Amino acid sequence: TRSWEYIKVSLSETGKVGIVQLNRPKALNALCSGLFHELNDAIRTLDNDPAVGAVVLTGLPKAFAAGADIKEMANTHFVDNYKSNFLGHWTEITQARKPVIAAVQGFALGGGCELAMMCDLIYAGDNAKFGQPEIKLGTIPGAGGSQRLVKAVGKSKAMELVLSGNMWSAEEAERAGLVARVFPADTVVAEAVKLGEQIASYSQVATQMCKEAVNKSFELSLAEGLHFERRLFQATFATKDQKEGMKAFAEKRAAQWTNQ
Ligand code: HXC
Repeated sequence: TRSWEYIKVSLSETGKVGIVQLNRPKALNALCSGLFHELNDAIRTLDNDPAVGAVVLTGLPKAFAAGADIKEMANTHFVDNYKSNFLGHWTEITQARKPVIAAVQGFALGGGCELAMMCDLIYAGDNAKFGQPEIKLGTIPGAGGSQRLVKAVGKSKAMELVLSGNMWSAEEAERAGLVARVFPADTVVAEAVKLGEQIASYSQVATQMCKEAVNKSFELSLAEGLHFERRLFQATFATKDQKEGMKAFAEKRAAQWTNQ
């Protein structure tokens, strides 16, 4: 229970889903340094809360986030940016072990689109707009827009987005595979929380291993990835939850997970 300047943090009714809302309305949630530090603190706290099984990251009805704060960075120079590892702290959210669902309404541009892609999956409201407009500012994506986007949608679509600076509608983003599902805008947060509750109803050990295995597929060759997956799969047989899950199936009852 601390007070935040740029975000709001809450729990779902069950207390099992953490909800982080970016809340800097006067700048369409432009991601200034202070906002990102608060976001990292909130995600770290929820990730370490044993009662929480999943996290939803959302923004405001008009903007998930309109990008890095252009006014904050406009007059910075290379050497200062290099020495301070400018934006290096942005990737901290990818270190969370619990699944993080982005619920996007309105603009997800530049760093906002990149932040959504750092989450484990994206649900979009039907008013969502995705883009990497850095090219219009004389710069390029700096937090995954030339890397995670390619892995999400392939080279040709990614090239078109980063070279044109155009925006995709929610529907286009879904068709391209950037977005898992589109909902009426005013229901997308509730839908993301619903998915979060479902994830949180399973063994946390298993959901975290699922996330770890899928994310490894971006880093490893197929042979190494399959090896890693098989080892994790085998490791689940050392958990109480695997024993309970399979026993409960045979006994035709709901499993009682202990996250052990
Ligand atoms: C700072 C921003 C901002 C941003 C909007 N604002 N986006 N301030 N950084 N990225 C501010 C505006 O200056 C304005 O402040 C207020 O928010 C409302 O925005 P408007 O432009 O008046 O709203 P609208 O006309 O509805 O247009 C919405 C918009 C436009 C199309 C999203 O704001 C826009 O193009 N924003 C910039 C998008 C962008 O280029 N993002 C990429 C940033 S670069 P005032 O004070 O005038 O009311 C980037 C690099 C990432 O992200 C790489 C490193 C990680």
